[in-house]
Amino acid sequence: AFNLRNRNFLKLLDFTPREIQHLLELSAELKKAKYNGYEQPRLKGKNIALIFEKTSTRTRCAFEVAAFDQGAQVSYLGPSGSQIGHKESMKDTARVLGRMYDGIEYRGFGQNIVEELGAYAGVPVWNGLTNEFHPTQILADFLTMQEHGRGKALHQISFAYLGDARNNMGNSLMVGAAKMGMDIRLVAPKAFWPDAELVAQCREIAAETGAKITMTDDVQEGVQGCDFLYTDVWVSMGEAKEAWAERINLMLPYQVNMAMLQATGNPHVKFMHCLPAFHGEDTTIGKELAQAYPMLSKGVEVTDEVIESDHSIVFDEAENRMHTIKAVMVATLGN
Ligand code: CP
Ligand code: NVA
Repeated sequence: AFNLRNRNFLKLLDFTPREIQHLLELSAELKKAKYNGYEQPRLKGKNIALIFEKTSTRTRCAFEVAAFDQGAQVSYLGPSGSQIGHKESMKDTARVLGRMYDGIEYRGFGQNIVEELGAYAGVPVWNGLTNEFHPTQILADFLTMQEHGRGKALHQISFAYLGDARNNMGNSLMVGAAKMGMDIRLVAPKAFWPDAELVAQCREIAAETGAKITMTDDVQEGVQGCDFLYTDVWVSMGEAKEAWAERINLMLPYQVNMAMLQATGNPHVKFMHCLPAFHGEDTTIGKELAQAYPMLSKGVEVTDEVIESDHSIVFDEAENRMHTIKAVMVATLGN
């Protein structure tokens, strides 16, 4: 009934709630199989291209480990070194790689680019993050919420996403929550609420699934009663460095700190972040920010205290990138 074979995985808007549920169930099965040593390789003999026009730790490693676990081979095409974008169009690249590879992952800039790749490759194309969407991340996030949701099904879960609600994470979490009937609060300065057209689209989906979508700039109202608090960087890959100076004062009230966890009123509240996170001075950017803005010395979008606390489930979330990406590849390409 749920045959996703040969489908692209470009954005969650393209999938029904039941299909998303199926991918989550397959992820959990594959995770259990790996843990218990009975995983069956269903991608034997497949060749997979991994195109990264932006840097990555989790997504690249998740695709590689998942492919290897399943018996496939991968080629990594990094931000420099191929002809992509500079000397060759995506339309041509798609038709060339589609002749050699059985599946293609793409991380880069506009969603239109991965859509074009998907339209011309003739093999499944998977979105590893664009400016607009990060769909594989949402599968990992929802699997993690199920694991840490104290027995709640997704449609019983409420969570707040704080900070830059206009970026790929805000957009994708909103679409995912709408599809799965969840209670999502996008808690951000008004200027950083998601695009009105996408919100309208999500509200239409929500009307059918029972999802609740709240947008607010009031932190207390937004986080009240939440099972999970989620945040992401205030300035994303590909955005101008100057954005930091414009955003810090606006975003500061939305920093996830211990006081905010308490404001949920839920002693069991969990903290999530797609990572990488700025929460200390042990990265070049973190250090620069802390020097320029002393109020960020304890953390930027999240404090060190929160991410190191028992509330934090960010590394379970990171691990789940691998199991969920594996499910996407197996479902669309597996034997
Ligand atoms: N969360 C995530 O996509 O991480 P990477 O940028 O390291 O792939
Ligand atoms: N919004 C972030 C997500 C990183 C996984 C970015 O695009 O840089």
